[in-house]
Amino acid sequence: MTAPENKPDTCTTGSCRGWVLFVVAAVATFALGLLVASILERRTEAQVAVQPKTIGTPIEDAASWKDAYPRQYDSYKAMADSTTMTKYGGSFPRDLLAEDPNNVILFSGYAFAVDYKQARGHVYCIEDPLETKRTQVVKQPATCWTCKSPDVPRLMKELGGPDKFYAYQAPGSTAGGFKDLANQVTHATGCADCHDAKTNALVITRPALVEGFRAMGKDIAKATHQEMRTLVCAQCHVEYHFQKEPKAYLKFPWDKGLAPEDMEKYYDEVKFTDWTHAISKSPMIKMQHPDYEIYTKSVHYYNGVSCADCHMPYKTEGGAKFSDHQVRSPLLNIANSCAVCHRWGEDQLRKRVEEIQDKVFEGRKMAESAIARAHFDVAACMQAGCSDDELKEARTLVRRAQLRWDYVAANNGMGFHAPQECQRILGAANDFAQEVRVATARLLAAKGILTPVKYPDFSTKEKAQALNKIFREGKDRPDLLGNGKPWPAAPAPAAPAATPAPAK
Ligand code: HEC
Ligand code: HEC
Ligand code: HEC
Ligand code: HEC
Repeated sequence: MTAPENKPDTCTTGSCRGWVLFVVAAVATFALGLLVASILERRTEAQVAVQPKTIGTPIEDAASWKDAYPRQYDSYKAMADSTTMTKYGGSFPRDLLAEDPNNVILFSGYAFAVDYKQARGHVYCIEDPLETKRTQVVKQPATCWTCKSPDVPRLMKELGGPDKFYAYQAPGSTAGGFKDLANQVTHATGCADCHDAKTNALVITRPALVEGFRAMGKDIAKATHQEMRTLVCAQCHVEYHFQKEPKAYLKFPWDKGLAPEDMEKYYDEVKFTDWTHAISKSPMIKMQHPDYEIYTKSVHYYNGVSCADCHMPYKTEGGAKFSDHQVRSPLLNIANSCAVCHRWGEDQLRKRVEEIQDKVFEGRKMAESAIARAHFDVAACMQAGCSDDELKEARTLVRRAQLRWDYVAANNGMGFHAPQECQRILGAANDFAQEVRVATARLLAAKGILTPVKYPDFSTKEKAQALNKIFREGKDRPDLLGNGKPWPAAPAPAAPAATPAPAK
């Protein structure tokens, strides 16, 4: 509708004022939109400033990059601080087995029941794997080095391909490729893991990630710059396994997707088992640290936020802006990590994170104690004389429950990365664990045993490890039925484990 001609061309009428209001509101909305967009685009500001510089050799040594990029180097070196502790994280080598003896039972018969510490900064990537008893007592392949050092891409090239690297065995050695290569892998995760030495651009240096994308029908070369700020981390912070064929070949179980159910389908199909549980003899999968996978199910991921946005926020020093290379818990640096996007106070942000983590922790504990008991429920059936055939279903359910629990438990950040997805998975883990308990109660009832299973005391790391030893050796196992019924003479033969049980 047009205005009548005799009306003056000034804005005195009601309808005209309405239009002005409308225009003002539209402009304001547009400006607000720009502001939001600018918040989300903050991360692209710094990349403009860098001119590639010539770096020294060897490029695997972070010190060779120092003169060219002193700020990034200095902040990288700051990762040596391993004294920080947040409620659930920080750079502190916490003993996860002593803090939570359930873990010892859950990993019974596997190296993680011997030694399991919280991760710390990248500069410890060589020291820590050499020190853990997991590599001391178990022969490990060279593949274990893959996510530890920029020497790895160099060695893959020198040895003639990733397959040669993974399967590496020194001539005449029986030590295992991991130990054999220890003198050639000497530089902790550093610049050359994520950057091209000539252009300084972000690069993917690990073939397993490229192959993982290919298995999902995606081409990682097409990733955007913002995606690369997450994908450089996904080279290492993911779930993986070592294939038998080609020997010890590193593979991400992503063929069917990134959720635990997808991985389970994949593992079932290729008949993969990490180890046979020493107590329940169930065919187990160890989840590693599917940080990238779970992150793709989060509200931050949906909004295009990258790992680097929170873990490598921009920092200003002497007027120069750069990415903070002290990769660590964002809770140690809330002002730069979160407050650039969220206008909440520091205390409020910390509180929100901790509340999310507390809730995931609670759900995790519930699943954990149900699964620990489920292992003993199956063992009680073994004491009662149930056959492997009769126990097949229960053991499969144990595998399903623990794979899900571990997908969350092995994840860093105590659920913060994707709280809802974590609770969904823990709910399923709990459900499977309770199904084991129903199935085993039925089996026991069929043998006339109606009394509850007598769970042994595993309230400390030492007590739990002693129980593991008893079950591994199959001698003097506790009376789980509480009726003095002896264990069958020959315990059900275990399926051969993919990874040998620790000698301890
Ligand atoms: C929205 C911010 C955010 C994003 C994005 C993010 N994280 Fe985190 N991350 C956190 C918070 C918060 C914690 C919990 C730290 C704590 O408990 O001290 C955490 C913890 C971690 C930890 C354990 C650190 C510790 O001290 O316990 C690792 C490892 C980690 N994240 C890796 C990643 C990876 C890899 C990605 C990308 C796939 C990623 N994060 C994306 C916020 C983020
Ligand atoms: C080459 C492999 C590799 C790459 C690439 C990598 N990480 Fe790590 N990261 C590790 C390993 C291994 C550890 C454990 C080190 C230890 O405990 O000795 C670790 C530890 C961490 C920690 C714990 C630090 C602490 O102080 O507790 C955080 C946080 C983290 N990484 C985040 C990231 C983010 C974010 C990226 C990408 C920007 C990334 N990582 C890329 C291998 C890698
Ligand atoms: C775990 C992966 C990772 C490692 C290790 C790493 N960087 Fe970076 N670096 C990044 C990411 C992610 C960015 C942000 C790049 C972007 O957005 O373009 C970055 C940015 C940079 C930039 C561009 C300017 C800036 O600060 O944003 C320089 C220069 C740089 N890094 C140098 C180094 C040096 C030197 C080292 C070793 C001491 C190193 N980086 C180690 C991931 C890494
Ligand atoms: C690059 C920007 C960016 C950074 C950095 C960032 N966030 Fe967010 N955050 C977002 C966006 C966008 C959303 C989604 C808002 C929405 O959809 O309503 C969000 C949502 C959230 C939520 C609500 C989650 C939910 O499930 O509803 C919390 C809590 C949160 N962020 C905490 C943090 C913390 C803690 C940090 C630092 C460790 C952080 N964020 C870093 C952009 C960011």
